Amino acid sequence: MKVIILLGSRNPEGQTARAADAVRKGIEAAKGQVETVFLPSLQIERCRQCDDSGWGLCRSEGHCVIPDDMAQLAAKVRAADALVLATPVYYSDVSESLRAFLDRLRRTGTHPSGHKDLDGKRALGICVAGGGGGGAPTCCVSLERIMATSGFEVWDTIPVRRQNLESKLPALKQAGYDLVQQAV
Ligand SMILES: Cc1cc2nc3c(=O)[nH]c(=O)nc-3n(C[C@H](O)[C@H](O)[C@H](O)COP(=O)(O)O)c2cc1C
Repeated sequence: MKVIILLGSRNPEGQTARAADAVRKGIEAAKGQVETVFLPSLQIERCRQCDDSGWGLCRSEGHCVIPDDMAQLAAKVRAADALVLATPVYYSDVSESLRAFLDRLRRTGTHPSGHKDLDGKRALGICVAGGGGGGAPTCCVSLERIMATSGFEVWDTIPVRRQNLESKLPALKQAGYDLVQQAV
């Protein structure tokens, strides 16, 4: 089973990365294959809302007109069996890099060709509030709605705050393990 972890933080040593790393360990313990992608290091523009209607090629052809790293990452996501979406909590919401990718991905799913291989894909969300610690539950609601409207099967959405990161690491590892094992 192949799992892609999409990280909406650019810090490989940060709190979101630590949470995602615990999930990675669980996936590996369950004999899953895993690849981690740091979204801010890719070039993924925000949606241009191409036409006056707000739509574009996403709706008519199932792909995006912008020639950046989106298409390659979308192909990788489609080829995976499951996804982990890990974001730092910004203003009680998901980070800009994760939002830019998911906003554009779910639009392509409105066309049958873009919809292919997204629907029913299992997704686990993790929201890490690393400042005051507030906003993780609100971020989870937002991320869960984005996952659902992208067509994913929401496996779970886990709120984490700076004050409980350490104690949540075992649960995050278990979630990664279960994500693979319960799919077999
Ligand atoms: C623009 C911005 C908004 C933020 N908003 C919140 C917030 O609402 N709640 C919170 O606890 N932390 C907030 N933070 C702190 C981040 O959650 C924290 O920096 C992040 O978890 C660190 O993750 P990282 O170590 O993976 O970079 C914010 C940080 C930034 C840059």
